[in-house]
Amino acid sequence: MTGSIVLFGPPGAGKGTQADKIVQLTGKPQVSTGDMLRLALSKETELGLEAKKYMEAGQLVPDNVIIGLIKDRMHESDARNGVLFDGFPRTIPQAEALESITEVSTVISIEVPDEDIVNRIVGRRMDPENGEIYHITFKPPPTEVAHRLVQRKDDNEETVRMRLSSYHEQTKPLGDWYMEKGILHAVEGTGSIEEVARSISKILTFL
Ligand code: AP5
Repeated sequence: MTGSIVLFGPPGAGKGTQADKIVQLTGKPQVSTGDMLRLALSKETELGLEAKKYMEAGQLVPDNVIIGLIKDRMHESDARNGVLFDGFPRTIPQAEALESITEVSTVISIEVPDEDIVNRIVGRRMDPENGEIYHITFKPPPTEVAHRLVQRKDDNEETVRMRLSSYHEQTKPLGDWYMEKGILHAVEGTGSIEEVARSISKILTFL
């Protein structure tokens, strides 16, 4: 498949969880703006410290910062045949800027209602050694790694509600924008992780 793929959906929809499987299927590298910002924050770079206040408040980081990050990333050699965007673009200005950087051939929208999102996010745990994503109920970690798992600072109920509100105001309209372009494929995101993976794989196989 030529071009880049966009994984679209609310916070906690399962974008990161499904990204690994899509990378295996397509060979396209995952580009997650959330992971890039968290890496910058852990290194205490100027960009990371600037992004921190937005991330911890559940707000979007300004478009110019994000677009700059993506332009730099897309110059790397592994991006030549397109990438899998996870959590980008999140606003119409970001999507417009992306049009001049790479061709987006497919947008996969993982649809999960708000009432499921809070449970998913509050129960999420991450393995800092390999980035694996777990959930205390839906994807329990093996006992040998449980002691080292961490919880993201923005994975608390108050911040999740802010993130959901940013999603509805600024990101959801982008779904309609891609729908009008005829490249958005909606996937029911409330099934099991494996069921969602099967739905996505069917879409990618028939393209
Ligand atoms: P980011 O890191 O992108 O966070 P997000 O979009 O809020 O998405 P999440 O990572 O929270 O969720 P996900 O959809 O990947 O779900 P996951 O697979 O982990 O962004 C963080 C912040 O950075 C933003 O708030 C913003 O400030 C900033 N930012 C990033 N990009 C930006 C941009 N482009 N513009 C501006 N600002 C930006 O799954 C969640 C949980 O559910 C896990 O525990 C998982 O095990 C579980 N789960 C997954 N699938 C299922 C299933 N089918 N059934 C049951 N449980 C499931």
